[in-house]
Amino acid sequence: MGLLWAGLMAGAAQAENVGQKLYDNTCAACHGAAAVGGFAPPLVNPEQWKAMGEKAPLYFAQVAAAGISGPLEVQGQSYRGLIMPPQSGIPAQDLSLIINYVLKDINGVDALSTTESVASALQAPMTHSAIREIRKGKSL
Ligand code: HEC
Repeated sequence: MGLLWAGLMAGAAQAENVGQKLYDNTCAACHGAAAVGGFAPPLVNPEQWKAMGEKAPLYFAQVAAAGISGPLEVQGQSYRGLIMPPQSGIPAQDLSLIINYVLKDINGVDALSTTESVASALQAPMTHSAIREIRKGKSL
């Protein structure tokens, strides 16, 4: 019985989403498990990300590369005085998996990042105010 259980658990662990594991290790402390929010705002916000289209994965890549600060309106709630530090120490490939886990698995968004798009953001991080302009739907 014990061995059977161990075998089943090993199978389940292998099937587990890599992006989710990386998210849990890297982002969940602030954004909560399954991105429901915590100290930091929730990332469960399908209307916002769908409305941004192709800019959603670019926005996430820039937030990861540069961090973000300044006022944010998230689902009618105001977040002020908070600062997210850059996550630029994380390899582009891992960040891309994390971003796609949040956008696709959590929010059902089709526009996703690639390792290349995240690597470009890491090489050219923008200012926080410019990144907030992307969120508002203004041009890059
Ligand atoms: C140390 C805490 C912390 C960690 C770790 C962190 N964040 Fe954040 N994040 C924040 C805070 C705080 C904000 C809000 C900043 C503001 O109000 O301007 C934020 C904002 C964001 C936003 C903007 C949300 C919006 O509605 O526009 C995104 C996207 C985001 N984080 C993604 C991530 C991802 C992906 C990770 C993991 C790679 C991560 N964060 C790790 C604290 C964190």
